[in-house]
Amino acid sequence: MKSVMDYFYQPFAKNESIRILQITDTHLFAKKNEQLLGVNTTNSFQAVLDAILDRQFRFDLVLATGDLVQDHNEQGYHYFAEMVKPLEKPLFWLQGNHDQLQMEKPLQQYSQIKSQKHILVGDKWQILMLDSQVFGVPHGKLSSYQLDWLKVKLAENSERYTLIALHHNILPTHSAWLDQHSLRNVHDLAKIVKPYNKIKAIIHGHIHQEMDKLWKGIRILSTPSTCIQFKPHSNNFALDLIPQGWRELVLHPDGSIDSEVKRLATNEFLPDFSAEGY
Ligand SMILES: [Fe+2]
Repeated sequence: MKSVMDYFYQPFAKNESIRILQITDTHLFAKKNEQLLGVNTTNSFQAVLDAILDRQFRFDLVLATGDLVQDHNEQGYHYFAEMVKPLEKPLFWLQGNHDQLQMEKPLQQYSQIKSQKHILVGDKWQILMLDSQVFGVPHGKLSSYQLDWLKVKLAENSERYTLIALHHNILPTHSAWLDQHSLRNVHDLAKIVKPYNKIKAIIHGHIHQEMDKLWKGIRILSTPSTCIQFKPHSNNFALDLIPQGWRELVLHPDGSIDSEVKRLATNEFLPDFSAEGY
């Protein structure tokens, strides 16, 4: 069932695979010279965009999975929208813990940027964009509204393969400082996804590191930030040397997914390693 709140995307050829670009945790500021723990987030995001365009990975859609800005300022969203213009394809977004409640207001001024959260892609797939933000705190939670919406969309389109996107991590990273900020009600999500065997992947940001694991038969993929990287398996706050990145996904008509994280070739945007928190 389609409604005005749905976005329908028909790939060029019937049965062609759907190609998706995920960017996450850009943490832009109202001032372009601001840094997050020593990294100029505008410059590192620009370098990621340049590298994406250089690779000539042909994609149909872009998913931005939260923390678009760092300082709760509207100006960062305008910079974001201007910077992604060369990607040319429709971009869908969801909230992270650093985002404004009203981020739709600046973003809706740009025709490339879509506010829909339900994306019907061709005949075989749907993408569901969830809001896990609890305003003012770093951890995430899916509200009863979000859970009910997910339940309805899964039931209405049970014949479609599904990709779910949200900001917060549902699996532990084994970094104690970070795991206290994960999605708190994973058990509620587990109950809703249980009857459906066509949910193929859940993608997220938030943890500023790559992850590719299985949870209840669903592939859980997290993607590096376009700015600072958190060091995996570190109980205390620690930053990583590894370069900034993004994710490329190919959703095939048989429900299988190919996905890879790509990173900048060099680590020219190194953070301040003496930082003790974020
Ligand atoms: Fe973030």
